[in-house]
Amino acid sequence: MDLTFEEERLLRDTSAAGPLLLAPPTPLWPLDCYEWRALAESSLHAPKLEDSAPEGSKVGSLDPRLLFHGRLRTVSTPAITKAQRLVAEQIMANQQRRHGKAGIILDGPRGTGKSTLLQAIGVHWERRLSSLYGPDENRIPVIVLSVPPPTRGSMRNWAGAFARFLGQERESGDPTESVIRAMRNARTLLVLIDGIERLRTAADAELAFQYLDVISEETGATFVYCGRGAQFIVDPLTRDNDTKLDDTEQLRGDHMVLRTSRMGFSPEESIVFARVIELFDAELVLYQHQKHDLREVAEYLHTRSRGYMRSLSQLICQAAQIAIRSGEERITLEVLEKVSLGRVVNL
Ligand SMILES: Nc1ncnc2c1ncn2[C@@H]1O[C@H](COP(=O)(O)OP(=O)(O)O)[C@@H](O)[C@H]1O
Ligand SMILES: [Mg+2]
Repeated sequence: MDLTFEEERLLRDTSAAGPLLLAPPTPLWPLDCYEWRALAESSLHAPKLEDSAPEGSKVGSLDPRLLFHGRLRTVSTPAITKAQRLVAEQIMANQQRRHGKAGIILDGPRGTGKSTLLQAIGVHWERRLSSLYGPDENRIPVIVLSVPPPTRGSMRNWAGAFARFLGQERESGDPTESVIRAMRNARTLLVLIDGIERLRTAADAELAFQYLDVISEETGATFVYCGRGAQFIVDPLTRDNDTKLDDTEQLRGDHMVLRTSRMGFSPEESIVFARVIELFDAELVLYQHQKHDLREVAEYLHTRSRGYMRSLSQLICQAAQIAIRSGEERITLEVLEKVSLGRVVNL
């Protein structure tokens, strides 16, 4: 195998901080509890300027600083902070109950940071339990799943998804029994399910909840359901549909619904946006960066991202990478103008 210059240098220099780049860097997709634990523990470390290639030198495509600005770390937006508190309250309320636990629904439009929030909640609880009770291989406080794809007919293999996350060998027959046993023994506190919008039909959702209800009733875990339109998918399955209501009553379940949204342009929302910008500002590792540089272009960022977390993150990340590559090392209006995100480019 031929090593690149950078890989050879890293292999030679055993004191080099950072990973041995023997394969192209990719994001981590946690498929089981071991990978998830590793992800929760490795809060992407920010590179330091003093450890980076000196200013003015040519930056390769594996430069740690360039890679770091490709996604930046999750910043604790006001939405995340508030959600953390509410989820903690619900977990505390559920913790001592064997039956009658209430779940949480995380709803909101595309690109508003739902999945990121869900992961932040998971990481928080994984770390919190590990620091409270010490690390323990046998504890699995958080289970993180996506709605599994349909297999035979329109059945989804939920049992298989749980079993795989728990690191159980594939057995013949239904692993539900052993999933429940494992979750009880591992003291699972939270089950986070993303991609609820994939349950498109009412029948599909009902089948899913037939299974999830069993797991929820038989274990101590609090469930969080996340996805676009999750409220209207999940709610009908968690409420009493039998009792006849008064004319004035609204049919509504009792799960807490957390709703993310874009940061709009009202005065209050603009204040939130400004706070988020400051959080991103503190994450940048650029040679010419001055504190509050992003504040100077906050209005531009707000208009161009229209307040969506995904656009905002992309704009800042791409501008930072352009600034590193070009040697400008600072995010300015001119650099942001070079980002083509969301634009039609005539060729
Ligand atoms: N709090 C945050 N801090 C940093 N980046 C964020 C944050 N929230 C969202 N993002 C960025 O926005 C992108 C889209 O967010 P995501 O959570 O996938 O939205 P949704 O699930 O609502 O479609 C993420 O990949 C991430 O890069
Ligand atoms: Mg998502």
